[in-house]
Amino acid sequence: MQAVIAGQTVELVQGDITEQEVDAIVNAANSRLAGGGGVDGAIHRRGGPAIMQETARRYPQGCSTGSAVISGAGNLRARYVIHAVGPFWAGGDQGEAEALAGCYRCSLELAVEHGCASVAFPAISTGAYGYPLDAAAEVALATVCEFLERHRRPALVRFVLFGSDAYQAFARALRRRVGEGQAQG
Ligand code: APR
Repeated sequence: MQAVIAGQTVELVQGDITEQEVDAIVNAANSRLAGGGGVDGAIHRRGGPAIMQETARRYPQGCSTGSAVISGAGNLRARYVIHAVGPFWAGGDQGEAEALAGCYRCSLELAVEHGCASVAFPAISTGAYGYPLDAAAEVALATVCEFLERHRRPALVRFVLFGSDAYQAFARALRRRVGEGQAQG
């Protein structure tokens, strides 16, 4: 499914984020940048050790929740990996939505600063961190659309969703945001 927001494309696909040919892929990292399972495990496995060597050298203090840092992409097809730290879901009244919006916004700022025209995001926080899919999709799409309306870059933001539940949640949120007729495919 695709929609055009302020002349730029927002796209939803089902798939594996490590296989994306885009300028930057976003990792669902932890604040120690220590690696893990899920997206984080897949990115470091396929990207090789150069990614963690670089983040350890450049960001020894890690990265706070709601923020992001950038590195090279090792053996992946992308040019950059943006390591975004989403919030752990603790019921919804602990600032989770603000933190989730913050890590999407910060990732997009880094992408634009580094000249990226295309960025792929996973559904940050919806795996090990337990953020409910529909609520996460709402925040993710609102934040990305507001960024595109304001900055008109990057040209392509792709959400790479693992499985049909995640895809359907993002598709519902995108249709709600742009209206039924504006979301194609
Ligand atoms: N491609 C795309 N999406 C994926 C992939 C993949 N290869 N693998 C998992 N996912 C999906 C999950 O199904 C979930 O919907 O990405 C979403 C985010 O899940 P996690 O990777 O568990 O990320 P998160 O919930 O943000 O938890 C972060 O998990 O791996 C650790 O080090 C990481 O501590 C951090 C925590």
